[in-house]
Amino acid sequence: MKTGNTTNETKLGGRFTFPGTSLTVQRMGYGAMQLAGPGVYGPPKDPDAAVAVLREAIAAGVNHIDTSDFYGPHVTNQIIKKALHPYPAGLVIVTKLGARRPADGSWQRAISPQELTEGVHDNLRNLGLEALDIVNYRAMGAVHGPAEGSITREVNVLADLKRKGLIRHIGVSNVTAAQVAEAQAITDIVCVQNNYNLANRHDDVLIEDLARQGIAYVPFFPLGGFTPLQSSTLSAVADRLGATPMQVALAWLLHRSPNLLLIPGTSSVAHLRENLAAAELTLSPETLAELDGIAAATVAVKH
Ligand SMILES: NC(=O)c1ccc[n+]([C@@H]2O[C@H](COP(=O)([O-])OP(=O)(O)OC[C@H]3O[C@@H](n4cnc5c(N)ncnc54)[C@H](OP(=O)(O)O)[C@@H]3O)[C@@H](O)[C@H]2O)c1
Repeated sequence: MKTGNTTNETKLGGRFTFPGTSLTVQRMGYGAMQLAGPGVYGPPKDPDAAVAVLREAIAAGVNHIDTSDFYGPHVTNQIIKKALHPYPAGLVIVTKLGARRPADGSWQRAISPQELTEGVHDNLRNLGLEALDIVNYRAMGAVHGPAEGSITREVNVLADLKRKGLIRHIGVSNVTAAQVAEAQAITDIVCVQNNYNLANRHDDVLIEDLARQGIAYVPFFPLGGFTPLQSSTLSAVADRLGATPMQVALAWLLHRSPNLLLIPGTSSVAHLRENLAAAELTLSPETLAELDGIAAATVAVKH
């Protein structure tokens, strides 16, 4: 881990500075995908509740929000703008490009230079910004995760938009280690956003490699996403610590490596508070070893 980019403050997991940038965030952030309607499509049932979640996050000190204009589509960004614009100083909004949502609600690739450029302008308009702090190129990959294949053309488009001043910094999402390296040969990569949690540890080696370079690793589905994490070990540890299983899952991620930034998603103020409080949990080496056993057991069952 490069020194100097993480502080030891315990509030919201301490702070992290994206490499080569002036953007510093609390390690405990917020993922806005759950603010759209069912299936991440259309408006939420209760738009006021969505606004309340965002305002509560900011009031609690969160300054890293993950979003995309394809959540809704457009809906999530419009709610963020309604709730928080003009944005507080220091708020870092990270968005992603690479998909579109036709009227049937499906997720389709949108990776041509024209689609990626339009995607940047959609984000700027719906968020009410003149430049985007960080944009992830989100590769569509295979059903269950990333798939090898060149991403040079798409990253070049983002690098060009960065030169034009519409994007400040670039990340990649749903990618393999080879694709991260491919992107780094084109432009500076400040973060990688992949599917990772207590039970899904495919990126263990990549996390160490990014940590050595000071690059943020931002796990999506930190709580299991559409299939919330469930494990008797997790529940037993949570009982013992007087915490909830979701809090323990988030605390484990904060302990996993100092370059991990969390963006748990929720549409509920109560869950938001619970999730942010997870940063106060300290896990002993024995408890961490016990929790590490969850992934080992998952792998054993699969084989
Ligand atoms: N790059 C990518 O491809 C990609 C893919 C997916 C997501 N993301 C990003 O990653 C963020 C996090 O992922 P996610 O929201 O899909 O999944 P997640 O954070 O793993 O889990 C969210 C789910 O957990 C529930 N939940 C949250 N806190 C809870 C708590 N304390 N107790 C019980 N249930 C709780 C939420 O329901 P409630 O609303 O009821 O709390 C929701 O159903 C997203 O918001 C999005 O910004 C990126």
